Amino acid sequence: MEIVRTISWMKQAARDARRQERVIGLVPTMGALHEGHLSLVREAQKQCSPVIVSIFVNPKQFGPGEDLAKYPRTFEADRQALENAGVDYAFVPPAEEMYPAGFRTSVTVEGLSERLEGRSRPGHFRGVATVVLKLFEIVQPHFAFFGRKDAQQALILRQMASDLNLDAQMVLCPIIREADGLALSSRNAYLKGEERRAATALYRSLEATRREIGAGERDVARLLGAMRSVMEAAPGVALDYAEIVDADRFEPAVGLRKACYALIAARVGTTRLIDNALIEPEGDTIRVTV
Ligand code: PAF
Repeated sequence: MEIVRTISWMKQAARDARRQERVIGLVPTMGALHEGHLSLVREAQKQCSPVIVSIFVNPKQFGPGEDLAKYPRTFEADRQALENAGVDYAFVPPAEEMYPAGFRTSVTVEGLSERLEGRSRPGHFRGVATVVLKLFEIVQPHFAFFGRKDAQQALILRQMASDLNLDAQMVLCPIIREADGLALSSRNAYLKGEERRAATALYRSLEATRREIGAGERDVARLLGAMRSVMEAAPGVALDYAEIVDADRFEPAVGLRKACYALIAARVGTTRLIDNALIEPEGDTIRVTV
C-alpha cells in the first residue's frame, strides 16, 4: 500500500489509474478505523481497483466546543488494518495541504443541511460537503463508499453530486454493529463503563420500532413514542432527537407508505451518538433494516 500525503501526488496517481481505464473506488474516512470502515473497503474492492482510503480528521466539520482536539487518531493501527485489507493507497494529507492559508471556499447544500444533525451541529454538513468535494476532485473516484449510519450525510452528498454534476457514484453500505447492537463508531472509544451499556439504548429504541411495525403499528406518532420511551428509560442518556423522516428529503414522515428512516441522536455522558433504521414498504408488509 502506498501512503500519499500530498494532493499533487494523489492527483497524479488518480490520473494514471484513469488513463489505464481502471475503476477508482474512494472510501473517505477520518481514521480511527473499525470494522464498519473495513466493510466499506471490502465493498469497494468488489467493484474497484485501485481502492483509495482517505484519512483526514476534517477540522471544518467540527463546531466550536466539539471533539476535534480529542478525536481518536490511531494512524499506525489504521495503516496496518488497511495494509492487511489490501488497500492500494492511503491518502493522508496534513491539514495545511487541504486548507492552506487563505482558503475561502465552502459548499452548502441548502435546506437539507440545517435539519436534524445540522440543527444540533451548525456548519457540520458544510464542512463535510466541502471536504468531500475536494476529495472527489483530487481522487476522481468512479465510486465512493459511505456507511448508512450517517444517512443524512449520504443524502446531502448525493444531492451535492447531482447538483454539481459530479461523476462519482455514491454507494451506501449497511451499518455494522457490535454483538449487543451498538452501531460501530470511532466515537464509541469515548464510552466508559456504564456508558457503554447505556449506549445500546439507541439500538434498542430502533428495535422497539421494528417490533411495533412488525406487530402492525403504522402510526408515526405512536412509533416515535415507543422510540422515545426506550431512550427515556436509559440511565445517563439524553435524547437529542427521535424522528421518522421520508428517505428522499428527510422531511417528517406522515405515514409509512414510502421509504423512511427512523433516526435517533443522543448524548451518552458527553459522547454524542447517532443511529437509524431504514423502513421500506414491500407489498403488503414493511421491511425494517436496523
Ligand atoms: O463520515 C465521515 O467519516 C466523514 O464525515 C467524512 C465523509 C470522511 C468527511 O470527513
